[in-house]
Amino acid sequence: MFFNARALFLGAAALFFGLSAADDCAQGPWQDVQYVGGQGGSPYCHTKYLDGTVMTGIEVWASKKEVEAIQFYYSDGTNSGQLGKVDKNKKHARLDWDSSTDGISQVKTWGNGKGESLGRVYIRTKGGAELDVGKDTDGQDTYESKTASGILLGAFGRSGEVIDGLGLLFLKSKIDKITVEDMVFKETPDQLNAQMKGLQTVILDYADHTNANTDSNETFTFTKTETRTTSKKYSQTATHTFGWSNAIELSGKILDLGASSTTTLKYEYSRSSTEESTQEKGVQLAYSVSTALKPGQRVFCRATAMSGEYKGDYTANVHIWLEDGGEFKFAQDGTMEQVNWSQASSICQDKEFPPDDAVPEVPASKRALKFIA
Ligand SMILES: *[C@@H]1O[C@H](CO)[C@@H](O)[C@H](O)[C@H]1NC(C)=O
Ligand SMILES: *[C@@H]1O[C@H](CO)[C@@H](O)[C@H](O)[C@H]1NC(C)=O
Repeated sequence: MFFNARALFLGAAALFFGLSAADDCAQGPWQDVQYVGGQGGSPYCHTKYLDGTVMTGIEVWASKKEVEAIQFYYSDGTNSGQLGKVDKNKKHARLDWDSSTDGISQVKTWGNGKGESLGRVYIRTKGGAELDVGKDTDGQDTYESKTASGILLGAFGRSGEVIDGLGLLFLKSKIDKITVEDMVFKETPDQLNAQMKGLQTVILDYADHTNANTDSNETFTFTKTETRTTSKKYSQTATHTFGWSNAIELSGKILDLGASSTTTLKYEYSRSSTEESTQEKGVQLAYSVSTALKPGQRVFCRATAMSGEYKGDYTANVHIWLEDGGEFKFAQDGTMEQVNWSQASSICQDKEFPPDDAVPEVPASKRALKFIA
């Protein structure tokens, strides 16, 4: 009879015992789901994959006869609560793994030998850590589950006084790409530009030079190339949770801090669609201005550039595309941090710069050799 089966392979369309079609465990991006155990207790279903959260830990307690209790841990720091009841507690272990760098490579389960409950669980991570808790299963059938991607999305089964049965839900295929769609930042470019938020003109260098010759002209050249760092970082929890380190495709209203003119920056919506989650680059800020000085003449020079620093939140939908063609989506907010620099400009004049002087913009045409009257 059906109920005597200790292990059942359930196809994607199959409804699990006691689970209604509305349960999150009944349908999802998994396949070849295996259930080991009996039909007592009441059904449980634990998964948060629709929030972009995966499982990253499991704790198991067992008596000499069967698995008494299980608790699952999620990537967002929460847990399933304890399923079953810890009673004899002859064996107990907990196994945690980091979903961003590790996953599950092997799962073996056994019944209690009578088709009533879960007897033993063995789990091994890709990194080689193991959990093995349960009864002595000598002579019993071993049921090995397919772990597919190794990303554990959920667990279902039946429990009451003990763990009557267990089935694990693995993401069925490796991830092909992650796209972050419908991005909307909390602030608009217009609002940010009006406030000049995070934008400031920085003095890179300053010179006060006098032609010390009494009988000859001098050409004073104020020039340097400096390196500054620009960066852009998207903090999107899903990429970490699902162990994704490649570029992400972005769409929606993507805020960006770019050039307004050669020497100024402004906020705008970007057209760019593929970004590394973290990029950092050295940019060269170069300036050069030459001034012809008569004997004894003094000149003041200053180089400036605009720097922009932004940190802001956005709402988005994360879309996970699987190598086997499957996909799923969930809403998840994120944060973007950006640092950018405009090109540098420089100016030389015969008067000292007042300390609180508003920094003027220098038209490119004036940057050649300059004579001061
Ligand atoms: C210095 O430059 C001025 C202006 O161009 C020129 O009239 C003068 O002859 C120059 N003096 C010398 C010593 O070269
Ligand atoms: C800085 O601005 C430039 C010019 O608009 C742009 O091409 C570049 O991608 C920006 N860099 C970063 C790190 O945002």
